[in-house]
Amino acid sequence: MTLLTWSHACTVGVKAMDDQHGILMDTMNDLRLALVRGSGHQQINSQLEQLIEFTRKHFQSEEHLLEQHGFPGLPEHRAAHERLLDQVREAVNRAEHSEDLEIQPLLGFLRTWYLDHIETVDRQYGPWLNARGVY
Ligand SMILES: [Fe+2]
Ligand SMILES: [Fe+2]
Repeated sequence: MTLLTWSHACTVGVKAMDDQHGILMDTMNDLRLALVRGSGHQQINSQLEQLIEFTRKHFQSEEHLLEQHGFPGLPEHRAAHERLLDQVREAVNRAEHSEDLEIQPLLGFLRTWYLDHIETVDRQYGPWLNARGVY
């Protein structure tokens, strides 16, 4: 089983955000472990809910930081968060209501989604914030 390791290449250069991204990855690793251990539907569902809740909080926190510093790309970034949170909710909903616990494809989807968002969208604000003394 491969765990999601947080490589240096995935950092955005702002510590608070890197920490939160790391926690998101930990949450997904926990889910994968629960799956491998054969945890029940209820356990998995509550972990999925935690992941959604943490994602929502992270997005809020990130948007707040960008707002504080007047980041010009905020409207697009916020729209990307809304779109993607909807997708995650939909995928989690489907997984929660399926009998056969198809979490593996869901985890693959979430992992790709988060990494892609962090590496493309989130990384855009790193240098911009760094230039304003935010690390
Ligand atoms: Fe983001
Ligand atoms: Fe982020």
